[in-house]
Amino acid sequence: MFKTAVIGCGVISHVHIPVLMEMENVHLCAVCDVDPSKKPELPEDVHFYTDYEALYEAEKPDVVHILLPHYLHYPVSRYFAERGVHVFCEKPAALNGDQLEEFIQLEEDHPELKIGICFQNRFNDTTIQLKKLLDSGKFGRIQNLFALNPWARDQAYYDAGPWRGDFQLSGGGCMINQAIHLIDLMGLLCGPVKSLKGTALNLMELSTDVEDTAVCRMEFENGARGIFFATNANGYNNGPILEVKTDQAVFVIDSRRLYRQYEKGNRELICSDEALAGEKFYYGSSHGRLIGKFYRAIEENTDDYVHVRDAQLSNRVIDAVFLSGKTGETVSLQA
Ligand SMILES: NC(=O)c1ccc[n+]([C@@H]2O[C@H](COP(=O)([O-])OP(=O)(O)OC[C@H]3O[C@@H](n4cnc5c(N)ncnc54)[C@H](O)[C@@H]3O)[C@@H](O)[C@H]2O)c1
Repeated sequence: MFKTAVIGCGVISHVHIPVLMEMENVHLCAVCDVDPSKKPELPEDVHFYTDYEALYEAEKPDVVHILLPHYLHYPVSRYFAERGVHVFCEKPAALNGDQLEEFIQLEEDHPELKIGICFQNRFNDTTIQLKKLLDSGKFGRIQNLFALNPWARDQAYYDAGPWRGDFQLSGGGCMINQAIHLIDLMGLLCGPVKSLKGTALNLMELSTDVEDTAVCRMEFENGARGIFFATNANGYNNGPILEVKTDQAVFVIDSRRLYRQYEKGNRELICSDEALAGEKFYYGSSHGRLIGKFYRAIEENTDDYVHVRDAQLSNRVIDAVFLSGKTGETVSLQA
């Protein structure tokens, strides 16, 4: 039985905590939030702390879930890893590519621990099936990826969590906070990015210093091209769209369904993701799947989860879009 603690009781804790409460091999021993008003309604044996160091000293958990503002992901993960605690950290792994390198070093320094990053959409049925189709080689090489994340985030969203609109604390807006899942999937399906040209901008007039919109054109190392468009300035949250054109076929994930698309726009449904009920439906339902894999990886010492090093592509692409937007130049991502 794993003794698990949750650090951060904000929005996403309402997805992690119910999953942990259902797991037979997990005992949720404690939760922590600096803001006592965030204390969740939980059984009495789940202790509440406002200080994660005090939680560690009193509870000595085996595993922690880090569900904190982005700037705290790496330092708080390091605090627990250095004390021998397995870490499951929400995305993004780091504020930027430089901090990610430090995080990767931490992972390498602790081979006895599992440190997982929550890119749960890698485990959507649509993603798994699309990757299988592309890897089968039956449809030729990938020629082009098109990704669109048309979401809506207004001032109330930033007021509810002021760190989200502060670049120093979040590392950015629509890319690192929302569309990072799509960027991650582009890398998962097509491999490393060779170079890109892009820009980040603001179409809304909100009191934040993070981008609400970003666009970029990528060249992948395997010769494929990609175009990526993310915005939080849409009028509503629409399901992300990811279209992959290979030599012989076009596949589209649209609103959590995978289709093969034929000429004239006819679509054949291949599979759908399990729906997540409620207003956060667009998060997808794969948190539970990835959390389950992470605990199995600890029990059976497998590699079947998302490592810190797997977060490299998304952090580096986001850095490159900011740099390209500032310089107006194409940015190389090759070492
Ligand atoms: N995987 C996904 O699909 C998904 C979806 C939503 C959010 N997230 C990620 O989850 C993380 C949290 O996002 P959120 O929307 O829940 O944010 P939030 O602001 O709602 O919650 C963060 C919580 O951390 C608490 N906190 C801040 N500093 C703390 C400290 N030092 N010790 C203890 N608690 C502290 C805050 O009081 C707040 O309650 C972010 O990394 C976000 O990107 C992931």
